Amino acid sequence: MQLFRTKNIADLLQEAQGKNKLKRDLSAWDLTLLGIGAIIGTGIFVLTGTGALTAGPALVISFIIAGLAAAFSALAYAEFASIVPVSGSVYTYSYATLGEFIAWIIGWDLVLEYLFAVSSVSVGWSGYFQSLLAGFGIHLPTALTAAPGAVPGETTYFNLPAFLIVMGITFLLARGITESKKVNNIMVIIKVLVVLLFIGVGVAYVKPDNWTPFAPFGSTGVFAAAASVFFAYVGFDAVAAAAEETRNPKRDLPRGLLFSLGICTALYIVVTLIMTGIVPYMQFAKDVSHPVSLALQIAGQNWVAGFVDLGAILGMTTVMLVMLYGQTRIAFAMSRDGLIPKKFSNVHPKYKTPFGTTWFLGIVAGLIGALIPLQRLAELVNIGTLFAFTLVSIGVIVLRKTRPDLPRVFRCPGVPVIPLLAVAFCLFLMSKLQPITWTAFLIWLAIGVVVYFTYARKHSVLNQSENKVN
Ligand code: ALA
Repeated sequence: MQLFRTKNIADLLQEAQGKNKLKRDLSAWDLTLLGIGAIIGTGIFVLTGTGALTAGPALVISFIIAGLAAAFSALAYAEFASIVPVSGSVYTYSYATLGEFIAWIIGWDLVLEYLFAVSSVSVGWSGYFQSLLAGFGIHLPTALTAAPGAVPGETTYFNLPAFLIVMGITFLLARGITESKKVNNIMVIIKVLVVLLFIGVGVAYVKPDNWTPFAPFGSTGVFAAAASVFFAYVGFDAVAAAAEETRNPKRDLPRGLLFSLGICTALYIVVTLIMTGIVPYMQFAKDVSHPVSLALQIAGQNWVAGFVDLGAILGMTTVMLVMLYGQTRIAFAMSRDGLIPKKFSNVHPKYKTPFGTTWFLGIVAGLIGALIPLQRLAELVNIGTLFAFTLVSIGVIVLRKTRPDLPRVFRCPGVPVIPLLAVAFCLFLMSKLQPITWTAFLIWLAIGVVVYFTYARKHSVLNQSENKVN
């Protein structure tokens, strides 16, 4: 039964007031921008190219399917976040409800989402940055532009721009939540303006003929693209990781989660329709990594295309910022519970951030992006995220049965139907991912199980208090 020992919710709330306290400085507006910061990035600016080639103009349906999976899960997240507004997001929620082992698995699984998202987005960022430099006639030495073996026929050792951007973000996050928030808010506003600019200019060039045939590869193409562009929604849940830095978490976390996801879903649907309306979908093969700016170039709007590239660079920067932030807060919570070493929950006396943890995780994420040629990293992020969403949605149903008494400032509508739909959509999208992604995912989980039984279970704070009682 030890595997299913749960943390007491009252204790959790009290712990958040304890010695290792984070600074409460975020409002509903900040949380919404934090969410948008994590959401709009590689998914819309890069993956739509391959998505359009896979699904054709029906890519918009793929975005809607992936968006529904995210939306149903977000409603479950929001309920949880309004009950247990402490650091650690879904890891902590499940510790209070589903037991230590499941919580550990989720925490371990979330590394795939947060840490690997930082690494994989850093590689996309580096590509955009290099093409920006090339526009000014600056070329980096090839050896320092990609991970070893990442470019066939080229000798490359290290993706220096990818590493440096992650270090810059780490520096900012380590310095403090207020500084990070200011930088994030400015960049998010610019990237949203760029997306709106694309919509405003692009809409005039849409030729409805380009939307036929609408789904040239049928439902197979649409579903495969949905599983891949789900990446575009990954990250809204990082809002929940900010619970202990939010002024009024019970009220504002659900708002931040749902507003950011709602705004981005609407933007994605419009952008995808316009993109595939300007360009016959086959033409995305010309430059699959810059599909949004390609659409504008084809429309003859080169100057707007330049702005879109800038928006993409800023977009990816905030994605990395918020995802690394989420990862550090989850590690912070797991360490406070004793499941990983205690050092990870030390708070810097001046900056009030988990300073050492931030640097440690930032360097790991930076090195993975710079050294490992993992094209499939984005799929691994998706599977990790979908799995976490599945468990959260089940958690909401379980908690309604086992703890109906808990005050819920936000109630997920239509329980159990909505959470069950979330589970169904997430499992469906997972089933569309490549076998290699599944293999990597299962190996990762297996390593997690070993670490749990050899370290975490013994060092768990709950274990120590149980021993004291006995
Ligand atoms: N949603 C984030 C992106 O698209 C991870 O880059």
